[in-house]
Amino acid sequence: MTHTLRSAAWFAGDDKDAFIHRSWMKNAGLPDDSFDGRPIIGICNTFSEFTPCNGHFRELIEHIKRGVLDAGGVPLEFPVFSCGESNLRPTAMLFRNLASMDVEEAIRGNPMDGVVLMAGCDKTTPSLLMGASSCDLPSIVISGGPMLNGKFRGQDIGSGTDVWRFSEEVRAGTMSRADFMAAESAMSRSPGHCMTMGTASTMASMVEALGVALPGNAAYPAVDARRARLARLTGRRIVAMVREDLRLSKILTRAAFANAIRVNGAIGGSTNAVVHLLAIAGRIGTALSLEDWDRWGQDVPTLLNLMPSGRYLMEDFCYAGGLPALMKEIQGLLDLDALTVTGTTVRDNIATAENFNTDVIRPLSAPLTAQGGIAVLRGNLAPDGAIIKPSAASPALLRHRGRAVVFDTIEDYKRRIDDPLLDIDEHCVMVLRNCGPKGYPGMAEVGNMALPRKLLERGVRDMVRLSDARMSGTAFGTVVLHAAPEAAVGGPLALVQDGDEIELDVAARRLELRVSESELARRRSLWTAPEPAMKGGYQALYVERTLQADRGADLDFLVGCRGHAVPRESH
Ligand code: FES
Repeated sequence: MTHTLRSAAWFAGDDKDAFIHRSWMKNAGLPDDSFDGRPIIGICNTFSEFTPCNGHFRELIEHIKRGVLDAGGVPLEFPVFSCGESNLRPTAMLFRNLASMDVEEAIRGNPMDGVVLMAGCDKTTPSLLMGASSCDLPSIVISGGPMLNGKFRGQDIGSGTDVWRFSEEVRAGTMSRADFMAAESAMSRSPGHCMTMGTASTMASMVEALGVALPGNAAYPAVDARRARLARLTGRRIVAMVREDLRLSKILTRAAFANAIRVNGAIGGSTNAVVHLLAIAGRIGTALSLEDWDRWGQDVPTLLNLMPSGRYLMEDFCYAGGLPALMKEIQGLLDLDALTVTGTTVRDNIATAENFNTDVIRPLSAPLTAQGGIAVLRGNLAPDGAIIKPSAASPALLRHRGRAVVFDTIEDYKRRIDDPLLDIDEHCVMVLRNCGPKGYPGMAEVGNMALPRKLLERGVRDMVRLSDARMSGTAFGTVVLHAAPEAAVGGPLALVQDGDEIELDVAARRLELRVSESELARRRSLWTAPEPAMKGGYQALYVERTLQADRGADLDFLVGCRGHAVPRESH
């Protein structure tokens, strides 16, 4: 090791301050040699019983600690705010940035030389990586791993994806409420996060593709012994990374983001990865734009046959060879020289990978869908961009003109959607607004609005939907999301009225409102901003300072890397 450990600023020496720092740590049983120049490894734990996807982290962390000790480091756990998707209201996304601040300040303020980031549920991965990127210490991510496949009446069922499907079947009268309730226990039957290719599995794949997690991170189920083994290896590796001074800024280059975006296309990953990767790039200081998503993802076919785009689940992905096998299938599209936390390249990491099930991981010659990736749409309805995931959409609707049916809020939608008198048919475009970063606040996952019951009963299963919201990564449909600027700041979505014609043309990347400029100007002059839901506290700060979706919805003052210089002494 050629550099001085930053923890020495706390623990080295024989003065009063070093006495204080060491003495209090010794009350946990640390022997004298813990402070003899061994790397101090912080383990950032998002355990919470309110975040059931991360509920097994107390066991998982023991394997990481053993790995750190194996390699001659000192493991010290620290808790941070845990953004659990299933319970947090009004939306976990509102707190992603808050959690990232917690992570950043905890890392910089404490005597640590390297960090293990324990992530799982959707927002825990980006919040940890955003905070760590703003510090740029040697850091490595380990995901908690997906749940085992859901099993219901002899069939595999997937987190989220089958909830949306079952609930539409109940509304359409083709599934009983008793069966619906029985499916609830069968879906989440082991520790771990959602086992569809939702946002959690997508982000676990993204960190592996970015090179900030060890190969295999994405797919080992939470209860598979190989997850525990990976945790132990992660603990060993972070100690070596400190000695090599292998920091995040050396790994999170444009090449790494290009690889991740291409992998996102190949796995049929969640649209939520768009805002998260933009935000992470903003923190580390790597240029990344919405256009990069379109450019790099455009020619990538979706190979992974997983819900919501396909039929299998994460456990099947693991047995088929996991992300290294998938990356090997698309190696011609990747920058194989990109550096990773292994200390070596993507090329080395995937060299021995094998695909053991070509129905789960399709070969390039027989993809699940020819066009994966995320399409970025522009037009007078979204001057700063909107996105759609073509692989989850109905091909027939990717070019469509329809009459707008507008819902001002999600409550307005819930109140009216099943009204038999609602003037709507399958050719209409459902528009939902005031659900963006400032409007909701926090840009909720409500963009995949369920269809009106009267159309479901007639067998309609997809319609064009448009909003400034996000959607769950487990959802599907012809859903245009993240329209920017959002309605709550006076974006064009705020001006749409019932009956207006909307034109979507995904191949041409266009999203247009067929209303004259003069009429839009008239409507704009009458528009007033909605009142914020909360006038103080974190929510008010968030609403005041959040950026729009095309900038990753980060808080403006959090963008950038502020380093890990040792702060002034506390005594
Ligand atoms: Fe936590 Fe899906 S709710 S991963």
